[in-house]
Amino acid sequence: MSSKFSRLDRFISQKTLIKRKDIRLLLAQKRIQVDGQIAVDTHQLVGPFNQIILDRKVLQQRRAQYWMLNKPTGVVSATKDDIHKTVIDLLDSDCASDLHIVGRLDLNSSGLILLTNDGSWSSALTRPEKKIPKRYLVDLANKISEDYIQAFANGMYFAYEDIITLPAKLSIITDKRAEVELLEGKYHQIKRMFGRFRNPVLALHRTSIGELHLSPELQPGQYRALSDAEIQCISNSD
Ligand code: URA
Repeated sequence: MSSKFSRLDRFISQKTLIKRKDIRLLLAQKRIQVDGQIAVDTHQLVGPFNQIILDRKVLQQRRAQYWMLNKPTGVVSATKDDIHKTVIDLLDSDCASDLHIVGRLDLNSSGLILLTNDGSWSSALTRPEKKIPKRYLVDLANKISEDYIQAFANGMYFAYEDIITLPAKLSIITDKRAEVELLEGKYHQIKRMFGRFRNPVLALHRTSIGELHLSPELQPGQYRALSDAEIQCISNSD
């Protein structure tokens, strides 16, 4: 899952300064374990989430973590902030270390946020060429008309970035509520798109990212670990 793999002998040598030729001897003496199994091959590839033990010393114990969280409004999608509470502050401290956020939401937006310490997994989700759809429920101040559907699908010119937004899908739910599906995440994108119609966004809630749907039982501020199937659906989406 991660691209940061290295040979077992190189990994141990870098961690312990033991020479690589001596590591062969340690392997022969069955003193090295990878994920609870005696290692036999100096060429074995190990990544950032393999447990590696030499004798009784744990050289690496880094568990991969994948969480979904229902971000409340008023909480910042950042790991540190001097003024507001962050999504990391919502997590128990024993799972919060070294996590990063996958796909931010504005301060006054709510809904699905993913957190992980696995950089390969998060970049598989966020690489622009993957065009992973993100769905939002949007409440508006004024009525939405059918014209919006075509305008969102055509894309809009954003002068600041000098880009035309990718085709976005807008479905009208009620006269002041829509679902919007984006294939990208430009700064304040949905607010700016409705801004073209002078229609202020009153509430914005992300419901899904690709195949990952915010669990309805998660109240604002609550979170849960992703299942193996949910983790795999991103890893396998190449
Ligand atoms: N578009 C916005 O304007 N804000 C968000 O938080 C997400 C998408």
